Amino acid sequence: MNQKETKTLKYNFDEIIDRHGTHSVKWEGGELLKKFGRAERFDEDTIPMFLADMDFACPEPMLQALHARVDKKTFGYSAFLTSPHYIEATQGWFKRRHDWQIAADSIVYAPGTVEAINVLIRTFSSEGQGVIVQRPVYSPFMSSIKGRKREVVSNALLNDGGYYTIDFDDFEQKASDPNNTLFLLCSPHNPVGRVWTPEELIKMAEICLAHDVVLVADEIHGDLIRRGYTHYPICTLVDDDRLISCTAINKTFNTAGLHCSNIIINDGEMRKRFSANMGMKSPTPFAITALIAVYNHGEEWLEQVNDYIDGNLRYLDLFLKEKMPQVRYRIPEGTYLGWLDFRGYGLSSAEVHDRVYSQANVVLQDGESFGPEGAGFQRICVPCPRSVLQEAMERIYTAFEDV
Ligand SMILES: Cc1ncc(COP(=O)(O)O)c(C=O)c1O
Repeated sequence: MNQKETKTLKYNFDEIIDRHGTHSVKWEGGELLKKFGRAERFDEDTIPMFLADMDFACPEPMLQALHARVDKKTFGYSAFLTSPHYIEATQGWFKRRHDWQIAADSIVYAPGTVEAINVLIRTFSSEGQGVIVQRPVYSPFMSSIKGRKREVVSNALLNDGGYYTIDFDDFEQKASDPNNTLFLLCSPHNPVGRVWTPEELIKMAEICLAHDVVLVADEIHGDLIRRGYTHYPICTLVDDDRLISCTAINKTFNTAGLHCSNIIINDGEMRKRFSANMGMKSPTPFAITALIAVYNHGEEWLEQVNDYIDGNLRYLDLFLKEKMPQVRYRIPEGTYLGWLDFRGYGLSSAEVHDRVYSQANVVLQDGESFGPEGAGFQRICVPCPRSVLQEAMERIYTAFEDV
């Protein structure tokens, strides 16, 4: 499909797509959730809103490219670095969308961002050392740090009436401790939805560089930005080869199952060390095809999906203000995540959980999984048809009506 044809596409995000029978964790992972104690009930009536995974159809140019790839009938070993298309598509996307000129050599493929973060931790810190995070934050940051036998060092975010900021005094103190050698920055931030300003980003980078702390920015939500805000990749603000950025098509275009992340490491020596630990990995033929299609022809879909998500987040805001004012919520600046503060009800976390998960039969994510700072919160993911969100919210409202 050429660019001219894609201009005529109008996507219907209201479409309900039955994801059963696709091995979807979100829709068919009930046994897993039960096993890990994250939800007691999961049946055909459950509305799952716990996973950062969209229920929308992927961009049409990508679907067409994948069909055409299947028609080639063979799926042997794939070369991607030797073909310019993968690298050029990646460079083109970040130049057009973020004014970021990425050198071809700096792009290192990884089958997943979390896997890459594990390898980055292993490569740029040693056992027993501290890795700085800003809780409440994406829980695999913590499990990856602990799994590699490092210490989680939290520079907890400051919550001012639902708006989160950075405690820079504490950050500098933690960065200046020689035992803390790595900082995992979540930018934009999951779950609190902040899109960090250039001033905040530059200050964090300067502190890290001054104290020889390797800064790894997980920027995989960087294309899911609410209107009026701008995401700045860290490498566009601070010109220093020691900054590392994690990028991926998976959040932007809902291709997590295709396993395709690109880690941007500008320093040749650091790249060599990371690649040696990562091992020679190559994307699958489907990942290569998908990346080239979405980075070259996915912009129209992304603009429309962001508008639709804006609408869902606004709907959530109006619903809560009108029907559940005890729940504090701010429309996020980025991501498609709602960070809901249930503490206004004065209930225990267990009671909130029971009302949402068992009575309403909606699965969210308990705030504590993002660190103790998340106690009393629930995270909701809203990249779904509005009718599904409406049904989930009506059920949650009913479950709290008597409080
Ligand atoms: C901040 C952040 N990093 C990484 C991931 C997962 O990335 P991947 O599927 O590439 O491992 C997520 C998924 O929700 C995320 O929110």
